[in-house]
Amino acid sequence: MKKVALFGSRGQLGVELKSEFTARGYEVACFDRSLVDITDAAAVERTIADVDPALVINAAAYNQVDLAETEPQAAFQVNALAVRNLAIACRNTDAQLVHFSTDYVFDGQAGRAYREEDSTRPVGAYAVSKLAGELYARAYLDRPLIIRTSGVFGPGGMDTARGNFVELMLRLAAQSTPIRVVEDHVASPTYAPALAARTADLVERSAHGIFHIGGGTPISWFDWAAKIFEAAGLNPPLKPTNEREFRTPARRPKYSALSNAGIEALGIAPMPSLDSAIREYLAARVTAANKHK
Ligand SMILES: NC(=O)c1ccc[n+]([C@@H]2O[C@H](COP(=O)([O-])OP(=O)(O)OC[C@H]3O[C@@H](n4cnc5c(N)ncnc54)[C@H](OP(=O)(O)O)[C@@H]3O)[C@@H](O)[C@H]2O)c1
Repeated sequence: MKKVALFGSRGQLGVELKSEFTARGYEVACFDRSLVDITDAAAVERTIADVDPALVINAAAYNQVDLAETEPQAAFQVNALAVRNLAIACRNTDAQLVHFSTDYVFDGQAGRAYREEDSTRPVGAYAVSKLAGELYARAYLDRPLIIRTSGVFGPGGMDTARGNFVELMLRLAAQSTPIRVVEDHVASPTYAPALAARTADLVERSAHGIFHIGGGTPISWFDWAAKIFEAAGLNPPLKPTNEREFRTPARRPKYSALSNAGIEALGIAPMPSLDSAIREYLAARVTAANKHK
């Protein structure tokens, strides 16, 4: 049985990778931050040497885009230097590294969905740290698999401190104040279970290099919020805004949707529609709420 060492196993993508790879017959050794902090090079090296996996999957990340502007070193430690730790440990044990990156490595000026070969130009501290992570993976390994994704949401986000955009919108809808969401920034919201399945598809094709897996539907954050409320049967006071009015500490790319043409050319199934992903997410939420009753 193929062994996998999964870091960041309790994040919203981590939990889906655990179930997807387990369902496909892999033996998955899971490490959340309390077991292995990936910034600790000795702990990473020891763990990978002990498990001796064929595959190392890094789902851990520092994802606080705005906070990274005041603590760029913290973002760099996790998103860049810790990837170096993982890459060196993979090199020492001949393990394949699977690492996740972001649509934010692009500046958003192209005005169309980004392809793998497009030039990167990160526009903030988080984005720089994630691009540096890609570079470290490629600096120490000849064949890492790097998957860039966008606006991830999955049932795991119901339980994490950071959550996701769906949880944020539903929380805001419960207060009756106007909800302002930008209409001039476009991403491709990505359903974590579908991303985990296509990650396993890439691994099983022995793919390496950089691949994009976005949700497949370029949409503004405002329209995405509207879709969430419609699917949830809610009608809160949602108001469009724009980056001029809604200033954030970090700059963000205006159009960062990802093209999935690269994975589809390998015969990997297209991502599910955003509408069906939202419906599935909301159904998982109801199931989770019933379990807690
Ligand atoms: N979320 C998005 O919208 C988005 C968009 C584009 C790309 N991505 C990328 O997709 C991947 C998965 O993201 P996600 O949405 O699953 O993020 P997430 O839910 O925030 O999970 C990240 C996990 O990493 C863990 N972690 C943070 N620092 C760590 C450290 N030093 N050592 C070990 N674990 C650590 C966190 O643990 P704690 O909870 O203890 O901090 C958390 O469990 C990441 O590479 C991310 O950059 C995400």
